[in-house]
Amino acid sequence: MSVHISAKKGEIADVVLQPGDPLRAKFMADNYLSDVKMVSQTRNVFYYTGLYKGREITVGASGMGAPSIGIYSYELFTEYDVETIVRIGTCGAYSTESKLFDLINVEHAASESTYAKYAWGMEEELLSHEGNIYNLINETAAETGRAIKAGNIHTSDVFYRKTPGTPAIAEKYNCLAVEMEAFALFANAKYLGKNAATLLTVSDIIPTREEISADQREKMLRDMIELALEAVIKL
Ligand code: HPA
Repeated sequence: MSVHISAKKGEIADVVLQPGDPLRAKFMADNYLSDVKMVSQTRNVFYYTGLYKGREITVGASGMGAPSIGIYSYELFTEYDVETIVRIGTCGAYSTESKLFDLINVEHAASESTYAKYAWGMEEELLSHEGNIYNLINETAAETGRAIKAGNIHTSDVFYRKTPGTPAIAEKYNCLAVEMEAFALFANAKYLGKNAATLLTVSDIIPTREEISADQREKMLRDMIELALEAVIKL
């Protein structure tokens, strides 16, 4: 047991797929894993461990924002000996060059967040994915005929803001899109010597306010989940 996860030691696999939403974790467990066991439901943040093509995998939510993923990923890495976390999420594209449903494998996350500085003394505002899982995702996408963009994204602490447009940090690092978690996940992985990747689907185009509908979400989710699962079984 850790402070926020009630699984026993040994009940969490060495690789965790981490959507933001607990119900997405349930969807993944129900649709993709066999021999599934729910191993934590503290705060209704469900964690499930099961098998995908014979490999043990845990799926469980991060919640929203750097503080939340910071807590869950830290406890998974340090209390459950997790080696690899793949965040599976959605993002808002900053430009109309991106299209709804585009898949992004995050190379670097840029952020104004103070998370990495105050947690680990890291002064950088740009943090990289960690380990080989990023490459495995790119390779798996190529093998399975999925188009994927590798690039930088902005991890923001802010969803609603006064001034529209692309924030300065996102311009500075050529960020394709914005989400709210990758930077903290990468900071924890870097500090702890672990592996982390973030796979995102574009769910809205910020300049035009286009967004995918609720029923389109399931299909996009399936594509991203299947890519992540096929990549992690190579670990
Ligand atoms: N901002 C932050 N996170 C997001 C967005 C957004 O517009 N869309 C999906 N995740």
